[in-house]
Amino acid sequence: MTDASIHLKAETEVALAAASDLRAWDAVRVSVLGKAGRLTALLKELGRLPPEVRRERGVGLNRLRDELTAAIEARRQALDAAALDARLAAERIDPTLPPRPRPAGLIHPISRTADEIIAIFGAMGFSVAEGPDVETDWHNFGALNIPGHHPARADHDTFYLPAIGDAPPPVLRTHTSPVQIRTMLEQAPPIRVIAMGRTYRADHDATHSPMFHQCEGLVIDRAITLGHLKGCVTDFLRAFFGLSGLPVRFRASYFPFTEPSMEVDIGWNRRTGELGGGGDWLEILGSGMVHPRVLANCGIDPRQWQGFAFGMGVERITMLKGNIADLRPFFDSDIRWLRHHGANPLAPATLHERA
Ligand code: DAH
Repeated sequence: MTDASIHLKAETEVALAAASDLRAWDAVRVSVLGKAGRLTALLKELGRLPPEVRRERGVGLNRLRDELTAAIEARRQALDAAALDARLAAERIDPTLPPRPRPAGLIHPISRTADEIIAIFGAMGFSVAEGPDVETDWHNFGALNIPGHHPARADHDTFYLPAIGDAPPPVLRTHTSPVQIRTMLEQAPPIRVIAMGRTYRADHDATHSPMFHQCEGLVIDRAITLGHLKGCVTDFLRAFFGLSGLPVRFRASYFPFTEPSMEVDIGWNRRTGELGGGGDWLEILGSGMVHPRVLANCGIDPRQWQGFAFGMGVERITMLKGNIADLRPFFDSDIRWLRHHGANPLAPATLHERA
């Protein structure tokens, strides 16, 4: 080996050892093997040597090139391995650390009840219908057989909105019954829907809120009877409250949009508030056979089709099921109340035992 070769080998080894990252390593590689590198320069000199020296020098330089190439490659592998080790050390998971607190959301009791109602009626073959919160006077009252002079209007404490033109002022719907009208106008019978949503009345105390929720049911077919209504509503109430023996009573009543009309009561104990037997009755929903005039208002021939409808307050049944005394906190967004009454989102709404 020539002096130049010996120096090059020693200095490259030192430089490689000092190269602590890939950039420094690459600089060393280029300075030796690159176009203007030191080994390249030595190889270029070969051509200018007399033939007798050239052969031997050539063999030596080729060996040197192999050695340097191998040393450079080895250093790169060492640097790669060190980088991987450093990453593994930095990203190591310590399973003994306490978990970070993850705030879990809860389902609002109203949403929970809505899910349960839909699950129960869904299993009975109902689908969900929707309508707007701002209704025309006709959808909310007129088509439901509640004309302008009707005394039932006074019971509804209606929020009226500014009139547009000569039409009666639009209203915030006072019940979900207008969704019956919209469904019958849009869908040909047979019909089997529930409608759930916000309703509005100018009323505010421990059991009334100016905005509340109702759930409406509507079934129209050729041979639907009062017996179907009673069976359907009874099944629903027993499933919802999870009491297969819940007493259910149908009491003659009056609604302008049904004939005959019935109020539905469930058994409870007035003293303890417990549902079931107990000898007392609690009014829970309104129902009846859809009035022939309502069918006709929606273009459905009452001589061919008939059916039943019912309506109930979603807060009311939620309060009864969850033993909640006051309606106002439902809409106060008090996080403590919501934590207490909220439902675990991972526990799906279940179908309770059916009677
Ligand atoms: N719309 C009535 C209310 O808000 C409830 C109701 C009663 C709905 C009887 C019905 C029904 O569909 O048939 O008080």
